[in-house]
Amino acid sequence: METFASFITCSIFVHFLLCVSAKPPHILFIVADDLGWNDVGFRNPDVLTPNIDKLARSGMILNSSYVMPVCTPSRNSFMTGHYAFKSGLQHLAINPQQATCAPLNYTFLPQKLKELGYATHAIGKWHLGFCKWECTPTYRGFDTFFGFYNDQEDYYTLSVAGGKDFRDNKVPVNATGMVTAMDEAIGNITKALKTKGIFNDTLIIFTTDNGGAVKFAGNNYPLRGGKATLFEGGTRATAFVTGAGIQKFNYEYSGLIHAVDWMPTVLSAAGGTADSKLDGIDQWDSLRTARESKRNEFIYNIDDFRPEIGGHAAIRIGDYKLIDGYPGLHQGWYKPDHVGYDLNEDVSTNCMRPFFDKMMLFNLQDDPNEHVDLSRKHPDIVKKLKSRLEYYHNQIVPANFPKNSASSAPTSYGGFWSPGWC
Ligand SMILES: *[C@@H]1O[C@H](CO)[C@@H](O)[C@H](O)[C@H]1NC(C)=O
Ligand SMILES: *[C@@H]1O[C@H](CO)[C@@H](O)[C@H](O)[C@H]1NC(C)=O
Ligand SMILES: *[C@@H]1O[C@H](CO)[C@@H](O)[C@H](O)[C@H]1NC(C)=O
Ligand SMILES: *[C@@H]1O[C@H](CO)[C@@H](O)[C@H](O)[C@H]1NC(C)=O
Ligand SMILES: *[C@@H]1O[C@H](CO)[C@@H](O)[C@H](O)[C@H]1NC(C)=O
Repeated sequence: METFASFITCSIFVHFLLCVSAKPPHILFIVADDLGWNDVGFRNPDVLTPNIDKLARSGMILNSSYVMPVCTPSRNSFMTGHYAFKSGLQHLAINPQQATCAPLNYTFLPQKLKELGYATHAIGKWHLGFCKWECTPTYRGFDTFFGFYNDQEDYYTLSVAGGKDFRDNKVPVNATGMVTAMDEAIGNITKALKTKGIFNDTLIIFTTDNGGAVKFAGNNYPLRGGKATLFEGGTRATAFVTGAGIQKFNYEYSGLIHAVDWMPTVLSAAGGTADSKLDGIDQWDSLRTARESKRNEFIYNIDDFRPEIGGHAAIRIGDYKLIDGYPGLHQGWYKPDHVGYDLNEDVSTNCMRPFFDKMMLFNLQDDPNEHVDLSRKHPDIVKKLKSRLEYYHNQIVPANFPKNSASSAPTSYGGFWSPGWC
């Protein structure tokens, strides 16, 4: 078994790299944090991402690859192959002060890869909880971890060592510059793989964890909405696959893929088999050969954490999408030069609004940007999707979203966020 040299990258956007090695193939799974649909050069020439563009064009750009509206739920799905609403992680992201983590009774992808003889390394952002050691990456299948446990850290926010959140710092955020810095890091990784002579034996999967955050200049145009909304702008991922095993080049793949699929798909690419009870589907054969996706429906999210104000949920079946409840705060179509959000808007209070009991139906084949609500025109289709949504809703594990705990304080741990308080 060969071990892979760790490499280090960290910008606000490069957050989580899973890098495993063995034969066959090496697997590099890159999660670009908050990267929007329109935040890459291959869609938007004003964004400078030459390395990403080259990698994307050397394989398949995934045109209908979906993630959850915010990051912890997506990361949970990448790791477990299960929807977040099965783990109680459907309500927003884990706060640093919350005494919780991704449930320990779920097997993580790197644990399965280790059974196949892989060496496993994680670099960058975790955000799946850290209040006790058992929650942290090296207890959940990774041989090594070089990164941070919480939501963000980058050149601008190193004051986090004192436990401060960058939102207190009012630093300017230049999204385009950060994306280009991430691209440079990915260029460096590509170079390192080539120097090691293993580039051709490496499968590279690249995905965002949710749509671009509109209020921080992330951009999803022409898709509707953004991070933390159930619209496509929050959930339809910038993603591509390239390298070992992928047979198509310079190709746009429009088959449906969901975040929950990556765990069984990566496992299959590595020569393993996933548990048949997963929500995720093994899409490796479909991706490898660019054939039809094995998926026809998925859940965007189901979250009824605060039933007194109504929850939200959305499902896609075939070309149709039903949104039930409040879809999120930023509901428009925002061009890249859009400015003017109140930076004090708090995602947590805006995910769900009181008494929004409306349903919306879209045909994403005819109307991928969600301009025309068809719910009045097609009550029969609404009924069908709503009933399927109910089927999933019956499986929900109540959201595990505890109050902040004072014992998390970094001041008790030499100024750092550390495990040991739950
Ligand atoms: C994990 O435990 C929770 C709570 O007991 C349960 O609902 C869930 O089904 C379990 N999941 C697995 C994969 O064992
Ligand atoms: C954003 O950062 C890039 C790269 O650092 C720089 O070229 C550009 O001028 C910056 N844009 C703004 C609006 O500050
Ligand atoms: C990429 O590598 C160069 C050369 O080692 C280094 O100077 C640069 O900082 C690296 N870029 C990033 C974003 O890590
Ligand atoms: C990698 O693949 C490319 C394209 O097929 C080929 O030109 C190159 O020689 C290969 N490199 C190695 C080290 O096998
Ligand atoms: C990719 O998605 C866009 C937006 O929905 C659509 O215009 C385009 O036709 C799709 N491409 C393919 C190959 O499906």
